[in-house]
Amino acid sequence: MIIKSTIDRIMEATDIVEVIGEFVQLKKRGANYVGLSPFANERTPSFTVSPAKGIFKDFSSGKGGSAVTFLMELEKFSYPEALKWLAKKYGIEVEETVETVENKEEENRRESLMIVTAYAAKFFHESLLDTEEGQNIGLSYFKERGFSNDIIKKFELGYSPDQWEAFTGQAIKNGYQQQFLEESGLSVKRDNGTLYDRYRGRVMFPIHSFTGRVIAFGGRTLKSDKNVPKYVNSPESEIYHKSNVLYGLYFAKKAIREVDNCFLVEGYADVLSVFQAGIENVVASSGTSLTVEQIRLIGRFTKNITILYDGDAAGIKASLRGLDMILEEGLNVKVVLFPDGHDPDSYVRLVGTAGFKKHIEDNKKDFILYKTDLLLKDAGNDPIKKAEVIREIVESVAKIPDSIKASVFIKECSYLLKIDERALLSELNKMRMAKAKKDSQQQISRPQVPVDESLLEEPQERIEKDDFSQEKEIIRLLLLYGNRVIDWDGIANTYIGPFIIAELSDITFENETCKSFVETYRREVENGVLPDEQYFIHLPQKEIVDLTVTLIATKYTLSDNWYEMHKILVPDEQVNMRATILGAIFHLKKQKVGKILEGLRNELQKTAVEEDQEILLNQYMHMKKVEKTISDYLGSVILK
Ligand code: UTP
Ligand code: MN
Repeated sequence: MIIKSTIDRIMEATDIVEVIGEFVQLKKRGANYVGLSPFANERTPSFTVSPAKGIFKDFSSGKGGSAVTFLMELEKFSYPEALKWLAKKYGIEVEETVETVENKEEENRRESLMIVTAYAAKFFHESLLDTEEGQNIGLSYFKERGFSNDIIKKFELGYSPDQWEAFTGQAIKNGYQQQFLEESGLSVKRDNGTLYDRYRGRVMFPIHSFTGRVIAFGGRTLKSDKNVPKYVNSPESEIYHKSNVLYGLYFAKKAIREVDNCFLVEGYADVLSVFQAGIENVVASSGTSLTVEQIRLIGRFTKNITILYDGDAAGIKASLRGLDMILEEGLNVKVVLFPDGHDPDSYVRLVGTAGFKKHIEDNKKDFILYKTDLLLKDAGNDPIKKAEVIREIVESVAKIPDSIKASVFIKECSYLLKIDERALLSELNKMRMAKAKKDSQQQISRPQVPVDESLLEEPQERIEKDDFSQEKEIIRLLLLYGNRVIDWDGIANTYIGPFIIAELSDITFENETCKSFVETYRREVENGVLPDEQYFIHLPQKEIVDLTVTLIATKYTLSDNWYEMHKILVPDEQVNMRATILGAIFHLKKQKVGKILEGLRNELQKTAVEEDQEILLNQYMHMKKVEKTISDYLGSVILK
């Protein structure tokens, strides 16, 4: 845990324009800075930074927040990681609660696992570089495979000595608990309860999380014995979920974003060799078949994936399904094959960087066209098989969310399949309709309506039934005017914030973020503090930061001609502050009462018991009166 005073110092030192300026080219415009959004593809800048408020707002993706939020969004840092990044930049010493053997016990389990895993990575790396056995066996193996010292250091490659307890013994001596040694998979328990090393005599590939912490290992045997598994990998644990991790992503993400493309390979060695050749946008799924989580992980950095496959056909067919998944996520997939017997590792070493890049350029093929080719070859002249191919291809195309892109593929496939484009389109529409029907059946509550075919051409947008605008309006007023003093007749010497909070003490907010915002506000008020926008912008809860920024950074408040825009907006609501505040409070109350009434009506319809009906009816009449009072109040006293 980073201590409070350190966080305060970091916040004080941070210049949001300077921080964001490291990632986005910013131009000064009025009091603000603008640039192209790093979160969306755009040509006209809609990304705005306000140094005065210490916030950014990206109008094309909707993201916004403080410098910390920005780093969390862009670099996918956790909250403490973002703080540490800033501390490093501004030369601030980070004070944390220290890790000693004693309070290691108090640490949460995840952190303990991380710590023991980091220790192991260091142990293996040092035994590779600094011990005789490591140098003679591990290091000479890596050298033979052509890995440079730089790569070995960067990826923290290691060696696990060929003894039963070299690592485990050392770890226990240093105070690491058996429980975590076992759970991380570094050690294995014997029947008599003692532990031994899992990776004896293997070279070690640490697997990093995308923030750069070691969370698992792959250990490769140096024996050619077929009975020994080539790689032994860490088991699933609280810190390692295979399906969420891509080997190499931590080192590749910067290049992936820059090149706007990600090369996907199969093995550890492929990543290392390709990276060493200067092609740094490369990650591996490490033996598991690709998962949706992994695709989404890549999708945060680029929408373009190029899959680099070994030449063997069996493996390719097995992975075709996984590729449909990528399409479904809206990513563009290209495929490159390598000559028989080669994987990216062996091929890049054979032909060098330029030759490798050329091979990719010359051979990359769009996935759907590649799949069409492959299946067609398989089907030969068999008409039944060919019909099946058409169905499968259209099925893939139907997964592409962007309908313009889909229709381009239909055109190209119609050429390859030698089939009329209209026939493919009608097949495509049939599939989409079936999918829409399936989706609507899954939503049981919705009554079945006949599907209007013309509506199925475009994916339908879901409209939120309730956008909580009334609740958000309250939050907006708290942020903008909470620390102003009320001076309207009858009420004085009160701040608007606590006034609103007190007025709404009987109201439950339904939107989770609004709810925790109001709870936080109330808690601070009870502590004698009036929280302002800066307070909310710097909370660790991302949803609250998001909401805060959205509400205070409307296009108008961040706009240059602030006055122009506000001539109309601001005086209106500020001149009659009383109407603004009371109006918002009572509109929200009226809405809540309306919901209660609706609930009572439903219950009334359902009950047949007379006594119950009477009770409900009484409640109903009472709430009706409340509603009327509120309406009258709103109507005559405050607003139209
Ligand atoms: P490969 O067998 O293609 O290995 O498996 P490789 O990466 O080319 O390794 P070298 O070149 O022989 O050293 C591809 C990936 O599948 C996983 C590993 O992540 C490996 O990098 N794998 C393979 C396992 O997890 N276990 C195995 O037994 C084999
Ligand atoms: Mn290989």
